[in-house]
Amino acid sequence: MVLGYTAVMNNPLLPLADPGPLVAVETGDGSFTLKQTDGVLHYRCLQGARTESRYVFLEGSGLIAQPAPWTVLELGLGSGLNFLTTADAFLKQFPEGELHYHTLDHLPLAIDLFRSLHPERNTDFPELVELLAEVLVLGREQDVVTRSFRGVHLTLYATRWDQAAVPADLNALAAYHDPFGPRQNPECWTPECFAWVAQRLAPEGRLATYAAASEARKAMAEVGLWIATRKGSGFKREMTIAAHRPELLDGLKLVKRVMRDRIPAGPPPGTRPRDWA
Ligand SMILES: C[S@@+](CC[C@H](N)C(=O)[O-])C[C@H]1O[C@@H](n2cnc3c(N)ncnc32)[C@H](O)[C@@H]1O
Repeated sequence: MVLGYTAVMNNPLLPLADPGPLVAVETGDGSFTLKQTDGVLHYRCLQGARTESRYVFLEGSGLIAQPAPWTVLELGLGSGLNFLTTADAFLKQFPEGELHYHTLDHLPLAIDLFRSLHPERNTDFPELVELLAEVLVLGREQDVVTRSFRGVHLTLYATRWDQAAVPADLNALAAYHDPFGPRQNPECWTPECFAWVAQRLAPEGRLATYAAASEARKAMAEVGLWIATRKGSGFKREMTIAAHRPELLDGLKLVKRVMRDRIPAGPPPGTRPRDWA
């Protein structure tokens, strides 16, 4: 079944890409993701959407090993799979704890499309699916929506990241950087975007993304983040993890040194950063 994907244009001048008509497809681990009907774009990897979500974001960010409370900042709610994966793991580990999950998406999914993904397969807590469904519906009318189930607080900013009122002192323990790639969403892979994320990342937090492109890593490095590489999920060769301090990336392979003395002044005229990967 192909369902419409109507943009919520909070700002009618938004120049951002709309992926167009989407369809739910089953992936290698039995979970579902969304795929463009007339293109190659898909929300999660087809080898296993749930597996990728857990491996790249929940484990890659190191969040799974952290004590409660957890605060997450996600760029790109999409199908909500990362939220369900994270909230399900949290409630199993910390039945009495607090999870603050802040997520952004300027195109909250239509509810029928969300239901067609069989989200109930991704959690043992049906209440989390209903929480997400309610937030998606309200996010098509309001810029900011918060709903809670037990200690799980889900806030959706239904705008593009550079218009979202996410507190600058959020102190996220994990940043899930999960927009589409630089070709579809170039505005999400710039130094400006990573500066915005880094400002909201706790001193001990980690940013995780499926991406490994050197341009994306350069943009992260430019804002002072340290960067490490890790094997990617499924057939992907690499993914990226970033943090404010190198010791937070212990056990991983650092891919470059951060040129801290060049920030925010930038490189001296006529020089080029020589140690970028
Ligand atoms: C790969 S999908 C996210 C997948 C999702 N995290 C999941 O678990 O299914 C990328 C999402 O990022 C959103 N997005 C792209 N550019 C954005 C921007 N500038 N601001 C906010 N959201 C954006 C898209 O609308 C899309 O839903």
